Parts: sequence; C-alpha cells; structure tokens
Amino acid sequence: MIKQAIIPLAGLGTRLLPLTSVFAKELLPINGKPGIEYILDECIEAGIKEVIFIISKNKMMIKKYFYNDNFYKKIIKRKRDPRIIDEYKKIIKYRKMIKFVFQEKPLGTGDAVLKAKKFIKDKYFLMLLPDDLIIKQNCSKSMISIHKRLKLSVMASMKVNKEDVSRWGIYNIKKKIDNKNFIIKSVVEKPTTKLAPSNNAVIGRYILPKSIFAKLLELKPNKSGEVHITDAIQSLINDDNEFIGHNFSGKYLDCGTMKGYINSNLEIAKK
Ligand code: G1P
Repeated sequence: MIKQAIIPLAGLGTRLLPLTSVFAKELLPINGKPGIEYILDECIEAGIKEVIFIISKNKMMIKKYFYNDNFYKKIIKRKRDPRIIDEYKKIIKYRKMIKFVFQEKPLGTGDAVLKAKKFIKDKYFLMLLPDDLIIKQNCSKSMISIHKRLKLSVMASMKVNKEDVSRWGIYNIKKKIDNKNFIIKSVVEKPTTKLAPSNNAVIGRYILPKSIFAKLLELKPNKSGEVHITDAIQSLINDDNEFIGHNFSGKYLDCGTMKGYINSNLEIAKK
C-alpha cells in the first residue's frame, strides 16, 4: 500500500521571480485556494496518510501557514464566524498529516527526496511536484491502482510538442501495456529537441521505490550542482527495475510560470 507522499517545496521558484523573492509560490491562490491545498486534497483522496514537505528556511511561510493557531484563535474568539472556524479546522486537518523536513540548499529534486529518506516506511512512496496540477481526475489515485495491479514504479506522463521537450524529463517506450500505460526503456532530463528520444514527457507524479535512495546517494551533482530524480530513475532502469509511464486522463495545469499560473486560475474557475 502507498501511504506516504513526498512534496519537494524548497525550490527557488526562479520561473516566477520577482514574486518568489519574498513569497512561496505554492501558497499563491488558484481560484481562491492555495495551490498546495489542491495537491494535499489529491493525496487525501488517493488514500495517502502522511505527507512529507521538504522546505527550506526561505519557505518558512509554508510551515507558518499550517501553524498559525494564535492568529486563528484570536479572531475566532472575537467573532465566531463559521467560515473562519471551518478554515481553521481544515488547516488543522492538513497539519495532522504533514511532516516538515529541511533542505538547506536548493540542490535539485533528487537531493530533496533524499532528505525524506529516514521517514519512508514502506517499499514504495508517492512524490508530487507542486508546480504540476492535474484536475478533473485524480492522477495519484489512478497511479496507485496501477501500482497495486502491477507492483511496479509509475510516472505520470503526457505527449508534449516536439519543440518543448527541453522543458521536461523525456522517456521512450520499451513495451506497451495498454493504451495508457507503457514500460519505459530510458528517461533523460530536459534533452534538446535533437537528442530527445521521443515527445513523451514526465509530469510531476511519481511512485518510487525505496531503493531509489541508494541510487541518489551514488549520484554526483550535475554542472549546476543539482541531483535530478530522473538520473536516479535511469540508474534503477539500468539495473532492470521496471518503470511504467502512465498517460493520465485528467487535465494538466502548469503553475510554475506566470502564464501557466494565470491559465490555471481561469481553467479551475471554469469548473
Ligand atoms: C521536474 C523534473 C522533470 C519533469 C518536470 C515535470 O522538472 O525534473 O523531469 O518533467 O518536473 O513538471 P522541473 O519542473 O523541476 O524543472
């Protein structure tokens, strides 16, 4: 059973500068609700019981968001507004399932995952990248049911424009399982259009095996000092571990750029 999820939140958010020089992008409201709450709701609905937030000192605002009891208590005491009481209850409900872990330096998603190593109990765990919202269908839930059936690691994926491949992790297919699920042959982080093996992009939902930690420990950081989760996944594939690419059915919204963020608001408001 997949009961734990990791959410890396220590990234610098350079694609959303200057805003992210003072503000945690994951708290930005999308149609009135902070982006991170959509991710938490997806986890809860998928049966996740514990979520590990990997934050940095610059992202303390996120921890405060879930631990601002005095603020709520004072307001609720002054005026017993049912809406505020409900909001506070919701925050407490989320908080009960969150563990905070620190990543001191922004050394990539792989390094962030490594910070959660000692908390992972089961053989597999879920990882969600908060820039990627998937609406209309719970992607984590579908991935968990595929994992249950096939007992393999899974990554969410979709086809992207050939000109855009350098924005994503890109994989090619070894074998088709059915119309939506494929065994991955290899995966490469942000290739050039020329070097990309296909236009199958990895989107930010992963079911990873605990054995990935050993791979992450072995990896050397790349030129920009980062350790990519994609490289650890490729290393596991090299050792004959099978990974499934799952073409999800929901709608993907990229909240990591200003254009994508604005579009996400419009799309969710339409629902
Ligand atoms: C990360 C992953 C990349 C994946 C993408 C999905 O990149 O490294 O493989 O395709 O998320 O959003 P990032 O968005 O952190 O640049």
